[in-house]
Amino acid sequence: MLVEKYSVCGGNRLYGEINISGAKNAAVAIIPATVLVDGPCRIENVPKISDVTALLTIMREFGANIKLINDSTIEIDCSKIRNTKAPYELIRKIRASYYLIGALLGRYRCAEVGMPGGCDFGVRPIDQHVKGFESLGAKVDIKNGFIHATAENGLKGTNVYLDIVSVGATINIMLASVLASGQTIIENAAKEPHIVDVANFLNSMGADVKGAGTDVIKVRGVPTLKGGSYAIIPDQIEAGTFMAAVTATGGDILIKNIIPKHLECITAKLSEMGAIIEEFDDSIRVRRDGALNRVNIKTLPYPGFPTDMQPQLVAALILANGTSIVTESVWENRYRYIDELKRMGAKIQVDGKVAIIEGVQKLTGAPVRAWDLRAGAAMIIAGLTAHGYTEIEDVLHIERGYENIVEKFASLGADIKRFECPDEEEIAEPLKA
Ligand code: EPU
Repeated sequence: MLVEKYSVCGGNRLYGEINISGAKNAAVAIIPATVLVDGPCRIENVPKISDVTALLTIMREFGANIKLINDSTIEIDCSKIRNTKAPYELIRKIRASYYLIGALLGRYRCAEVGMPGGCDFGVRPIDQHVKGFESLGAKVDIKNGFIHATAENGLKGTNVYLDIVSVGATINIMLASVLASGQTIIENAAKEPHIVDVANFLNSMGADVKGAGTDVIKVRGVPTLKGGSYAIIPDQIEAGTFMAAVTATGGDILIKNIIPKHLECITAKLSEMGAIIEEFDDSIRVRRDGALNRVNIKTLPYPGFPTDMQPQLVAALILANGTSIVTESVWENRYRYIDELKRMGAKIQVDGKVAIIEGVQKLTGAPVRAWDLRAGAAMIIAGLTAHGYTEIEDVLHIERGYENIVEKFASLGADIKRFECPDEEEIAEPLKA
């Protein structure tokens, strides 16, 4: 069997322009949300990533009619869905499959969905989602790797206070409640830009959702949602990844098709690190010529510094002057990738939620692994600043969430290639026997 890898030869500064794709974490919620809509939904700015492909496959299994209109536009019609059970083999690959529970429950009063997969960084509970569904009147059982949710008498609006600020639970409760009777109030809701995007999508189809982007969201149930058109927001994390990369390598790039407001928390940190950042209406210019400074970072729910940028920033801080302290406060275990960076010469110590990064003069290329999506992006950034070749394996994790990442970096002057080679573990197998 052949496996895909990237080879990165470090040393080039980045120059030029790139376009940012639609937001992964909005797309993976809006696609399942079409289940709630009675009629065709035309969705624009859909990123070409494997998580989207996997979700569309699941939606087809359900009986959704999906047309690819052009490169980034799809039309999904869920009027004739005949199935509310999602197969485990498909579901286990993506975390966002949990949005199918809220959407199916909201529309058909029942859902049977395999427990979600996705990036592995510690325990990923869904108790807050379940609490929300139960408060709305659903019965939820988890058995044999499946979540079964039913609401024979329909869902009824209620107040849900989230014990933890959770992106997934906020969106899932919104999905379950848009067609419920009466008003649902979600308190201590997450405020990420993609939560506002999902609410805007639902409202453009006829829902009544107010307050998305604040910590209290009010959903007044409506009888039906009608089809329409909607364009997904640009990916804040994809933009941030290129911003971190040019801050690490030096250079001057223009990042187009973005919403600068969504990037403020990232812009602030990269400016502290020495990047010079200019914001325009829908683009941002990032350059660095001078010193790369140390900073401290603590990840927090939006508008705090995003956990999904933590690995990329750690990679950019390896060559900074002085010692940086990074605190991961969203996920329990999101530092597994650091051992890969150490093999390239990084000096990083991890103690629980804290990583201490002592700036070094030089990194050297090495074979490394993309443990998960953002860790994979961090390997690319480290490879771009290292002397010699870095070979990255398990790049399918990266392609779950970044569209054409190799082509985009190459267009900025990076020496990066995707290649296929025989699976070494398979070759070694007869020797083990
Ligand atoms: N949590 C609970 N109970 C729950 C839900 C969450 O304890 O019922 C905890 C989690 O264990 C975690 C924290 O709450 O410690 C936040 O989790 P959240 O629910 O916000 O995360 P998520 O919805 O599963 C989304 C993104 C992640 C991103 C997080 C945090 C999607 C598909 N995924 O996950 O994105 O890290 O929000 O912002 O939207 C990525 O894109 O690389 C990625 C991992």
